Amino acid sequence: MTVVILLAAGTGSRMEMETPKQFAEIKGKTVMEYSMEIIQNNDEIACFFIVVREQYKNYVKNIAEKYSKFKGMVEGGDTRQKSVFNALKEIKNLKADKVLIHDSARPFSGKVFKNVISGLKFANNAIPVIQVKDTLYRIEETGSASAERKTEMVSRKNYYTVQTPQGFEFDLIYTAHLKAVEENKYDFTDDGSMWIKYIGNVRTVEGSVENIKITYPLELEIAEKIAEFME
Ligand code: CTP
Ligand code: MG
Repeated sequence: MTVVILLAAGTGSRMEMETPKQFAEIKGKTVMEYSMEIIQNNDEIACFFIVVREQYKNYVKNIAEKYSKFKGMVEGGDTRQKSVFNALKEIKNLKADKVLIHDSARPFSGKVFKNVISGLKFANNAIPVIQVKDTLYRIEETGSASAERKTEMVSRKNYYTVQTPQGFEFDLIYTAHLKAVEENKYDFTDDGSMWIKYIGNVRTVEGSVENIKITYPLELEIAEKIAEFME
């Protein structure tokens, strides 16, 4: 059985909006609801849980209840990692063998959900990535931006950016989270990084260019365009 954890407990500080970005609307539908639709329409997914902050619980519940695969809400933590861990603890007793962990700030993830689910048929993890397309420099943090800093050219050939959903065998990603807690580390920005640190190499699958994470205000405008394009 495959269960999804849909993360919606962030505050969206970089968006500088009054309400968190996952509640903003694209073509009359909230950002997070795009993910719910994708999950509902994917036959390989059994159910999903949403991680939210207390103050938005009623609001989110009203939207999520339209979807029959919605199984419950989990209290958010003050870092993404803590939000995921709260959900893993909550769903542990379901005995799901596979879990997909997804940022609700990525509304156009349908193709990637499929790629990750296919990848999980042959491996105990599946992480969607995209090869970096820009030229890359490595710049030392010391000194000010206007001063000359230690810079290095790095080949982009081996560099990839990482997306969600990310898929894992439940017991293994749960173990990785427990180990992080043991070491008092709470600020991993994705679960694949925790897998690399505590379990081993990851298995990559193809991410997709439309699967953007809405982070800054302009990306909400871009999302409108992507939504039109995908209609
Ligand atoms: N998230 C979460 N709990 C947190 C932090 C983040 O559930 N404590 C979720 C967000 O809701 C988002 C996803 O994790 O869907 C990816 O995080 P990010 O894009 O960083 O969102 P925010 O943390 O909300 O934004 P910012 O970092 O700009 O504050
Ligand atoms: Mg964040």
